[in-house]
Amino acid sequence: MKTAIIYISRHGTTEKVSSRIAAKFPNEEVDIVNLRKQKLNDLTPYKRVIIGGSIHMGKVHKKTSLFIEKYHKELLQKDLALFLCCMEKDRVAQEQFDLAFPEDIRNKAISKGLLGFEYVFEKMSFIEKVMLKKITGKDKSFSKIDDAAIQSFVDGIKYH
Ligand SMILES: Cc1cc2nc3c(=O)[nH]c(=O)nc-3n(C[C@H](O)[C@H](O)[C@H](O)COP(=O)(O)O)c2cc1C
Repeated sequence: MKTAIIYISRHGTTEKVSSRIAAKFPNEEVDIVNLRKQKLNDLTPYKRVIIGGSIHMGKVHKKTSLFIEKYHKELLQKDLALFLCCMEKDRVAQEQFDLAFPEDIRNKAISKGLLGFEYVFEKMSFIEKVMLKKITGKDKSFSKIDDAAIQSFVDGIKYH
């Protein structure tokens, strides 16, 4: 079974998480597609599609939304899984997830996950640094990628 992991990452967290997910399918063919750098014109080869995004100012990257809009019909035919990287938890995280992915796409997903986050100050613009410091009070990089959540997200895909 061929799998596509399709993601956009601003500062590298969603990219790392995508690689960690891919590593959990060692005996399968997995293509990792960075939508910022690569165009994906055909989903036909993939039975399984995993879409990952991160939240900035409450939203996923516009290209993620446009991709879902463009391939909406095809995505509904796939073994679909959805994940987000974001700093919020609980209700706010869930609201962001619901805003990021349309309802029928969410309902079709065999696995959904909130897989943690990072602050990567070295890769942020000046404005991003100021905004993040204002919102969180933090000004140092750190990683809170949630490996347990990644594992249960992958288990959800494998054993649905
Ligand atoms: C400027 C800025 C705004 C952010 N806004 C949100 C937000 O509204 N909600 C949230 O849950 N996380 C927010 N985050 C946290 C990011 O989702 C987190 O840093 C994530 O790991 C980024 O992943 P990426 O590097 O793959 O884009 C924000 C981060 C930055 C730098």
